[in-house]
Amino acid sequence: MNFSTDSAIKLAALHQGQLDTVWQSMSTDSDWGPDDVVLEIGCGIGAGSKLLVDRGNIKSITGYDKSKEYIDVARQLNFEEGKTTYEVADATDASTLKPEWKSAFTKAVSYATFQYIDDKKAFFKNVCWCLKPGGYFLLNFHHGNEMGTLDTIRQYMSDHPKWKPLTKDYSYDVYAALLFRGTRNQLEQLAIECGFSEARIVEKGGYLYRGRTEEEYKNLIEITFGQIQHIPAERKKEFIDDAYQRLIEINVRDEEGKFCLTSPTWVLTAKK
Ligand SMILES: C[S@@+](CC[C@H](N)C(=O)[O-])C[C@H]1O[C@@H](n2cnc3c(N)ncnc32)[C@H](O)[C@@H]1O
Repeated sequence: MNFSTDSAIKLAALHQGQLDTVWQSMSTDSDWGPDDVVLEIGCGIGAGSKLLVDRGNIKSITGYDKSKEYIDVARQLNFEEGKTTYEVADATDASTLKPEWKSAFTKAVSYATFQYIDDKKAFFKNVCWCLKPGGYFLLNFHHGNEMGTLDTIRQYMSDHPKWKPLTKDYSYDVYAALLFRGTRNQLEQLAIECGFSEARIVEKGGYLYRGRTEEEYKNLIEITFGQIQHIPAERKKEFIDDAYQRLIEINVRDEEGKFCLTSPTWVLTAKK
């Protein structure tokens, strides 16, 4: 990921265009209600937290993210008095969690963040620590057992003779190394080892983005391709254009014939 206020604003625009799809997923995976005090891990700019407040009728949500830039934008764009709180914290570092979060939440959610987590054990332990006994954790993430459209392009760009010499410090492998590649059962067991009493994963194949504009797809590439940090500023546009060109060539279509990006996704539901 490339963190900046600029990328946060672009991410906000991308989210705005798919709120209905995100809500559909949030409301199928869990029930929400006025007793829910929710924690969101890796909340980014807070779009998902605000959606839960607006459509889930929850009591309140605390979203945290390790990026201060994203939290600053969340506080500006997705704040609601008495309902939302946004903080900077690292899901793998217990010392960054607020003491008052201990056993404080009825539910925890985390969307599209687990694939960026290196210490998955610490992540689970820290989520569990924040939940009330009997609380639920809903984790939606991109696993590494199949390539999604963006993975295919990340790898293509890392191997590209023009870009390889510039991006060798951050190749596709740096991102790929973090992806979970075990079985569903292994990950369910890991959650249980870390303090949950039960855990279940379902496969949720699906579209990450579909029917979006060229500019939106390019923004997505700019935000999520870590190797861009190693490209000189004056060549970033050329890099993004090459990656977008590859996306057009791969030409993934949904059943309605709309251009889209697919992403192999698992949804884990765990109970403390
Ligand atoms: C792809 S974004 C997803 C953001 C948001 N959940 C969404 O669905 O739009 C991944 C987020 O995870 C955050 N993140 C990555 N590692 C983290 C960590 N160790 N602790 C907290 N947040 C982390 C990043 O800063 C980024 O905002």
